[in-house]
Amino acid sequence: MLEALRETVRAARAITVLSGAGMSAESGVPTFRDALTGLWARFDPQQLATEEAFRRDPRLVWDWYAERREAIARVGPNAGHLALAGFQQRHPGRLTVITQNVDGLHQRAGSPGVLALHGNIADDRWLEAPRACCGQGPIASGRPPHCPACGNLRRPAVVWFGEMLPEAELEAAQAAAEGCDLMLVVGTSGEVYPAAGLASVARRAGARVVIVNPHETALDNVAHQWLRQTAAVALPALLAD
Ligand code: APR
Repeated sequence: MLEALRETVRAARAITVLSGAGMSAESGVPTFRDALTGLWARFDPQQLATEEAFRRDPRLVWDWYAERREAIARVGPNAGHLALAGFQQRHPGRLTVITQNVDGLHQRAGSPGVLALHGNIADDRWLEAPRACCGQGPIASGRPPHCPACGNLRRPAVVWFGEMLPEAELEAAQAAAEGCDLMLVVGTSGEVYPAAGLASVARRAGARVVIVNPHETALDNVAHQWLRQTAAVALPALLAD
């Protein structure tokens, strides 16, 4: 199986990778839905990752993101991230990374042109449309930080449940899914759209779809092949020249 898949990679003109939280599991970043370590197991997602939750309790949501930021700052890219970046460096323009992850680890591994569909946890933005006073002087520190003049709050610049994805990234991701002849779906449960829908876009466009995940996923029926291995083990084996 692995040898055949290595041949598929070698023969592929354009490869698109769709990654999820499982991509970063071996870096020590908890995934959302894994029963034991998944962040959601400890929190109710609707309690934390929505604008309504933030407006209802800004400090709770801000503190949860601050905790995740600190955890992510302490970890680094794993062998899977590095294998992808290495392939991209050896074969410029042949592999595109689309990620649902907000941890920035693909970028820190050196992957160019990462399409981050759900934003980056390290970035903030204004909750309300910024006025002339917002950002004029120093932002008042706090949990969350805010504009000292009008009180506008800073919020994590990630895509929360129910929010629109960044248009440019989504369009580029659609194009990458339509234009590839191989899609690797790595470390995602495939439960959140529109990101998960990109696997069907690739399949419909004639690409070979391969899932890399130790467990079954909601996208198994979209794939041609299933590599029941982890990202940090499978990707270095698949992508070595
Ligand atoms: N290697 C590969 N896959 C792994 C590994 C690993 N080491 N460890 C776990 N997995 C798999 C799990 O089997 C699961 O299928 O990673 C997947 C993680 O799924 P989720 O926790 O649902 O994460 P994800 O699919 O990225 O969630 C999608 O939902 O919560 C929202 O916006 C959030 O981007 C997130 C989106």
